[in-house]
Amino acid sequence: MTTATARAFPNIALVKYWGKRDEQLIIPAAGSLSLTLDAYPTDTTVTLDPALDADRFELDGDSADAGQQRRVTAFLDHVRSLAEAAGSPHATTRAAVRSHNAAPTGAGLATSASGFAALAVSAAAAYGLDLDARALSRLARRGSGSASRSIVPGIAVWNAGHDDETSFAEPIDGPPLAMVIVTVDRRRKAVSSREAMRATALTSPYYSAWVADVELALASMREACRDRDFTRIGRITESNALRMHGAIEACDPPIRYLSPQSIAVFDAVRDLRDAGLECYATADAGPNVAVLVQPVDAERLAQELCGLGATGVANAGPGAALVADGAAS
Ligand code: PMV
Repeated sequence: MTTATARAFPNIALVKYWGKRDEQLIIPAAGSLSLTLDAYPTDTTVTLDPALDADRFELDGDSADAGQQRRVTAFLDHVRSLAEAAGSPHATTRAAVRSHNAAPTGAGLATSASGFAALAVSAAAAYGLDLDARALSRLARRGSGSASRSIVPGIAVWNAGHDDETSFAEPIDGPPLAMVIVTVDRRRKAVSSREAMRATALTSPYYSAWVADVELALASMREACRDRDFTRIGRITESNALRMHGAIEACDPPIRYLSPQSIAVFDAVRDLRDAGLECYATADAGPNVAVLVQPVDAERLAQELCGLGATGVANAGPGAALVADGAAS
């Protein structure tokens, strides 16, 4: 049996991906930019097993639900098609996938990003594919768009591109950044980001304005990273997050991910900023909040926010990589 294990970390977008140009290939409507973290990893082991007649997916020790199984099988079917094209002898073999998330799954803490990045790296190795970082980013994108960025260390830009070849993430330079993650709710979200993205494109009157604004935000954010201008990075981060949530909340029927507890964190961040501790809030498709801060202020910020939820500090982390068997926790 052929086995490979990979570890990948979540990334939190500072300029968000929200909307697809191509649902099948997962080509986004606009580019995005994120920070890969050094905390809350996903560890995934893929074992090819000729005795299996269907793929098996175990998440955090339990058999995954039917929807998750289907998504993993669709992803592995794509990996097998690449293996077949490469002449691999394993191209029809089914796999057992075991995955463990350090963060609560599906609560807006980017477990789909770390999950599909870890699956891309481990499945590519198990099926004998020799892929460079760009090809791995394109592969991870097919599982979950944001996973394309977790292949990359530190600050990643996902170039929207226009087809499978041109849509991938790559690293860019920027200042040292840290995040304080404030977990206010560990429950799985009621509406998946996939469904909510589709609903926003179809029913939110603000969708086209959102897409146009992301392009501008990304161009400004690239400049701010190049200039190592933390204040500008932070301001774009917070406004971009609230604009995404504004577009989502305007869906019909409405969808709302931010809870009163999330808003309390955004308010506390504004008050801390006014008091001289520079920090900026963002949130993905869930109620939990990530607060961008300079590394030197991260521990102090975590202490300030610990009354509002469980806090954890993360710095810039590595890209997804294989780990030696038995090394993953
Ligand atoms: O990769 P998905 O389909 O889980 O989409 C994630 C979208 C956000 O996390 C809300 C934003 C982003 O850019 O990561």
